[in-house]
Amino acid sequence: MNLKTSFDGLVLSNPLMPASGPLVGDAEKLIFMHDSDCGALVSKTISTKEPHIPRPCIYGDKEYVMNSELWSEHSKEVWVNEFLPQIKKHSDKPLIISVGYTKEDMEILIPLLDPFADAFEVSTHYVGTDLSVIKQTVQMIRSHTSKPFYMKISPHIPNPVLFAETVRNAGANGLVAINSLGPTMKIDVETRSIRYGNADGFAWTSGPAIKNLALATVYTIKQALHDFTVIGVGGVKSADDVIEFLLAGASGVQMLSGAMLKGKDLYAKIIKDLPIALAKYGFESVEEVMQTSLNKEVVYTPVLPELIVEKCTECMLCTKICPYFAIDFKEQITFNPDKCFGCGLCISKCPVKAIK
Ligand SMILES: Cc1cc2nc3c(=O)[nH]c(=O)nc-3n(C[C@H](O)[C@H](O)[C@H](O)COP(=O)(O)O)c2cc1C
Repeated sequence: MNLKTSFDGLVLSNPLMPASGPLVGDAEKLIFMHDSDCGALVSKTISTKEPHIPRPCIYGDKEYVMNSELWSEHSKEVWVNEFLPQIKKHSDKPLIISVGYTKEDMEILIPLLDPFADAFEVSTHYVGTDLSVIKQTVQMIRSHTSKPFYMKISPHIPNPVLFAETVRNAGANGLVAINSLGPTMKIDVETRSIRYGNADGFAWTSGPAIKNLALATVYTIKQALHDFTVIGVGGVKSADDVIEFLLAGASGVQMLSGAMLKGKDLYAKIIKDLPIALAKYGFESVEEVMQTSLNKEVVYTPVLPELIVEKCTECMLCTKICPYFAIDFKEQITFNPDKCFGCGLCISKCPVKAIK
């Protein structure tokens, strides 16, 4: 199975990369990502100032993570003198260096890091939503490098397509979509306190809970700008998720929170699972997935669900959850055609796929 993907001159042996965050915060961790066989390496965001990070700063729930981390706690000098030479010695995989945030930061960081970078990704998480400011940042980066670079879009940017058009016209090669969602909040009832938050009491949410938003952002941008590279990130936790992002239009896919919730061996597992998942859906390569356009047929007439009797375990979940009170149990599960709205909830929730 051919897992290769390439964009803007970067060639990746497979589409999965780590997303910027604590798991790529120094040389040891990036070497772990190399050894896990990730298609490319992405660093923690490097900036010019020292971050003041509250502790604790990472909360893990079942389907999401919340964090109040900032950028790398290591200085640009430590990255340039220690980590980046070590990583380059160990790995010939494409290295995407994450940098942040302002035009003034870029004037310092891009020339300094350029000798080590195969590409840059640029966080815009803390710079507000003024596109004229972001445009100047992009122009500054382009004036200092000929390498590909990708602006990372945060969910609080109001118009992703306008953001994409602005950064493309100013010289960026693409986008990374999306950063974590927020501001969001975690309250500890026991102690009547906000334990996992910054000075304002807020944290950022990531992980499986934001996957649908990330997919929609990737898709929206790709529908508007077909030839603009988009790297998808947000909520990935399986090979199936990677395929979903590729179908939405991503050229590569990043993951962080999934590995913090399920274990760091998830990178290697997904890369191992990917050929099996592709074969299961009848794909012969990653490139074939990326070339597939999504079928978007919208039906407005309700269709009554059907029970696959031999699969049904009579768990009754569908009778409990039906929002239209249309499912009963009379010797077997029955659907009331007068009440059923054809909403589809029972089909998606049936644990044994006994409803079609
Ligand atoms: C603890 C933590 C730290 C993060 N640090 C950064 C960072 O330094 N730079 C950045 O661009 N994104 C950062 N992110 C955002 C992730 O790179 C990613 O965009 C987001 O978490 C969504 O992907 P995920 O659901 O796979 O985690 C961080 C996320 C978390 C949870």
